Amino acid sequence: MVDKTIIKELIARSLVAAVFTSTLLPPKTELPSDLFGAIADLKRELNAVILAHYYQDADIQDIADYLGDSLGLSQEAAKTDADVIVFAGVHFMAETAKILNPNKLVLLPDLDAGCSLADSCPPDAFAAFKAKHPDHLVISYINCTADIKAMSDIICTSANAVKLVNQIPADRPIIFAPDRNLGKYVMAQTGRDMVLWQGSCMVHETFSEKKMVQLQIQHPQAETIAHPECEPAVLRHASYIGSTTALLNYIQQSSSQRFIVATEAGIIHQMAKVAPHKQFIPAPPLNNCACNECPHMRLNTLEKLYLCMKHRTPEITLPEATQQAALKPIQRMLEMSAR
Ligand code: 13P
Ligand code: SF4
Repeated sequence: MVDKTIIKELIARSLVAAVFTSTLLPPKTELPSDLFGAIADLKRELNAVILAHYYQDADIQDIADYLGDSLGLSQEAAKTDADVIVFAGVHFMAETAKILNPNKLVLLPDLDAGCSLADSCPPDAFAAFKAKHPDHLVISYINCTADIKAMSDIICTSANAVKLVNQIPADRPIIFAPDRNLGKYVMAQTGRDMVLWQGSCMVHETFSEKKMVQLQIQHPQAETIAHPECEPAVLRHASYIGSTTALLNYIQQSSSQRFIVATEAGIIHQMAKVAPHKQFIPAPPLNNCACNECPHMRLNTLEKLYLCMKHRTPEITLPEATQQAALKPIQRMLEMSAR
């Protein structure tokens, strides 16, 4: 016989859970039947712009005013005249938009949409690392927190890292953070030695070299393309390496009809849209999980995007000193990238 006190305890717990859940989740009735139409109305009402990354769900990509890679999104954020920026991406991307627009309201549909790569570089540990190399210039990949940006000399993205490093005098030593894979790729492309912070992205490190080679044997006509956040063992099987926008441009220019795509699977929605007659095969992760989808990016949904615009929250806020210190290396990136 089951003890009655245990049953009572379980009922009490589930009631608490139900009450707790209902206070966290908005009531279903709050959602309009035509979400796309309601978002368009809110956009006009707020004079808002929706900026989205390619790793977002397909419906968010379809509703965005601007869709791009981290560089394009920063450039767009720097020049927008909208009053409100709705950022469908991860926290560091929205934070960059806020650093560039301290007086604008910057909304992120889910404030928990973080980034494993940004998390792999805690500010205290990075400050100690930097102190060990006082004469080094610090170039940080944009996938880092505002605190890391504030400690950096120049920010880069996967689209311009090689170009920017090539502009640094050859005798100037460089710290590159936080992505060791992008760092190694830049070292190979520029012939520069750099001190690397040992961070990485959980999504791009999940691709398996062995499974990739098996897929290439299965599809001998397919061309393999990859994002530079992948490990060197995966990158060496790719015939083209680039940022998400660069990959999207490449598949349109290439005469190949079939591609193995080693980056977050969300970009395939855009690839299929711009080249519907071509075939895109997502690169296989280590096991049969869906780990080629970024769990952080996917926290944002169309429903949350609507709700954040309706309630004007959650918004990105930053201490003024951090905002000002982080702005300089971002501006430097935008200037050097335009050269
Ligand atoms: P992009 O620079 O191509 O936008 O990549 C950003 C990113 O987070 C890749 O994981
Ligand atoms: Fe960060 Fe990786 Fe997700 Fe890009 S794919 S946002 S680097 S966790």
